[in-house]
Amino acid sequence: MKTTTISQAPNYHEQTVKIGAWLTNKRSSGKIAFLQLRDGTGFIQGVVVKNDVSEETFQLAKNITQESSMYITGKIVEDARSPFGYELQVSDIELIHEAHDYPITPKEHGTEFLMDHRHLWLRSKRQHAVMKIRNEIIRATYQFFNDNGYVKIDPPILTGSSAEGTTELFHTKYFDEEAYLSQSGQLYMEAAAMAFGKVFSFGPTFRAEKSKTRRHLIEFWMIEPEMAFVEHEESLEIQENYVSFVVQSVLKNCKLELQALDRDISSLEKVQAPFPRITYDEAIELLKEKGFTDIEWGEDFGAPHETAIAESFDKPVFITNYPTGIKAFYMKPHPEREDVVLCADLIAPEGYGEIIGGSQRIDDLELMEQRYEEHGLTGEAYQWYLELRKYGSVPHSGFGLGLERTVAWIAGVDHVRETIPFPRLLNRLYP
Ligand code: 4AD
Ligand code: MG
Repeated sequence: MKTTTISQAPNYHEQTVKIGAWLTNKRSSGKIAFLQLRDGTGFIQGVVVKNDVSEETFQLAKNITQESSMYITGKIVEDARSPFGYELQVSDIELIHEAHDYPITPKEHGTEFLMDHRHLWLRSKRQHAVMKIRNEIIRATYQFFNDNGYVKIDPPILTGSSAEGTTELFHTKYFDEEAYLSQSGQLYMEAAAMAFGKVFSFGPTFRAEKSKTRRHLIEFWMIEPEMAFVEHEESLEIQENYVSFVVQSVLKNCKLELQALDRDISSLEKVQAPFPRITYDEAIELLKEKGFTDIEWGEDFGAPHETAIAESFDKPVFITNYPTGIKAFYMKPHPEREDVVLCADLIAPEGYGEIIGGSQRIDDLELMEQRYEEHGLTGEAYQWYLELRKYGSVPHSGFGLGLERTVAWIAGVDHVRETIPFPRLLNRLYP
């Protein structure tokens, strides 16, 4: 007999197979037991009919406890009522391990309780759906950049310099030196772009940010493409093509998961390039019209502002050309305006906020040196970055997409804590 997985079950229609599985829930009467099973690849209902199995098997089916593990044998048959489309007509059960008092029962639990049991909560149907969508976003990311001629380059995680300001750095000892955990691989990706042309990274980044919001993690994963000979406008085109590709891939390959999460897919179907663009100046005007009367030019946008702006569009929207004073030191000034930079934040629809921050980079050595001085970036640790402007400097642009905020948006999950397997939050390092 064939051993298989739940996701492969449709290939064994009307055949008898063996599956390694866990019990998530069950219901039984005198003559029949319904076992809700999962195996990591999917979910299926097993039906155990008293008259069709041995007495021993039927008793086992009736008494088996939540999260017990087993090898279960049965015939795969079509079932129009289940979203998966198939069920298992059970003929035999071989118990592997009996679980007792599984803490997460089918009743409602509070978020803190679930977060304390994250190592078990990951088994739930909802968390399974979110992580599968996360996995599809990662898969589609690699596909998009590989298909478009990018080389994956891995920047270091332990660094001697800061990339996004010095206030949110995690400090650590590096033998006798002071080191930080990477906030962004960008500066290293700029070096990589000068060596390989078009590059991307995908890795963990760290922000010692004392923010307790539904959009902030202390440890999060970022995708950071960097492109030589690409200017601001072309970078926006790459970003909208990339994000559209990712969303359309999830729609195509994660139908069951989106359904399990009750995600309204009509709003995702609209996510096709091109995306609208508004300048920071226009965004300020729009906010004033929407009743944010005290916002002033030069201020950064908070979550309520981003949500209000996003409401005016049914696709993600680029806000371009922010004031120099509220953006990072490396952004290239606008050629016609001293006070704004060639940058854009991409704001997701439905209140999910900024998912991408990107810009064209300063390629002029003198200007970069001037910015270094203004930002107090001194010391040997920063010298290598200046050298990129000394030897064959070229126009280049790049951006960073926050994976967890993107998962939250596409999966329709309110808080980023559910979009990463083991979230690191302001007050949480466990489990
Ligand atoms: O806007 P940020 O800070 O940009 C950079 O780090 C650039 N160096 C990227 C680049 O140009 N290569 O961060 C980029 C994205 C944000 O848009 C957001 O999606 C995500 O990273 N992000 C966070 N996600 C979760 N928790 C946090 N604390 C985050 N901070 C940023
Ligand atoms: Mg940003």
